Amino acid sequence: MTVTQNSKKDHWSSKAYNTSASFVPKLATTVYSYLDPQPTDSILDIGCGDGPLTAQIAGAVSSGRVLGLDASPSMIQTAQKDYAPSKHPNLIFQVADCTKLSKEVPEVLDGSFDKVFSNAAYHWILRNPETRKDVFSDAFKALKPGGSLVFEMGGAGNVAEVRSTIIAALAMHGVLLDEARKADPWFFPSEKWISAMLEDVGFQVERVELEYRPTRLTDHDEGGLEGWVRLFGAQLLETVSELTRAEVVRWVVEVLRSSCQREEDGSWWIGYVRLRAVAKKPQH
Ligand code: BEZ
Repeated sequence: MTVTQNSKKDHWSSKAYNTSASFVPKLATTVYSYLDPQPTDSILDIGCGDGPLTAQIAGAVSSGRVLGLDASPSMIQTAQKDYAPSKHPNLIFQVADCTKLSKEVPEVLDGSFDKVFSNAAYHWILRNPETRKDVFSDAFKALKPGGSLVFEMGGAGNVAEVRSTIIAALAMHGVLLDEARKADPWFFPSEKWISAMLEDVGFQVERVELEYRPTRLTDHDEGGLEGWVRLFGAQLLETVSELTRAEVVRWVVEVLRSSCQREEDGSWWIGYVRLRAVAKKPQH
């Protein structure tokens, strides 16, 4: 998971992420099975966050190598501490804005990777329409001929109830709709959009799928919906003062209680929609 935005501000705290979003890498079974890491693979992980999934991949790639990139220094610092080279010699983590690989880590675009992987990160990375195409053409350049790009991200309609409620809450508290939309940090494309983009940069699309996957949030003590909104909606919440922010978050949680909290056990669920794709760089 990453944020690769225009501003250099690091919105991530690996501690908050581990509390409110600990479920994210655990829900990656399907995309991991599509990656199907082989012992000799070289794999580039885009938006690796604090690295648990990257380390899992490195464990499967005994004689290959894995490079994890993320724009958040906080996340990369935690990954480097938790998965030290002494125990993970084939695994490297590096800070890089994944919208600007050719500027920040041009050596990565040398066509030496068997696979490029990304989980739950592209919806942040693709936020800026102007750099969307670069993100995919860079993945293409990083791959060997015959290599694959395998990823999962939020797809069209992802977390729609929370996204709309936060924007409505901000509007209720005096933020112009246009201003709220500008601060919206996500892009959740459709199958049609992603297929067209992948083909446009030269990939052969092997699989594209959209899955509605309601997801249980952590319990209240571990952050719950409030923790989710504060962590992931930070850029939206920054459109109001800190005092107003507390009121906005309280309002969002109360409005969503009727659609997201289950009566039988008080658990909170939100409507995640996963977009998964596998695309191949042609041999010639
Ligand atoms: C996602 O993984 O789909 C996601 C996570 C946080 C905010 C928005 C989307």
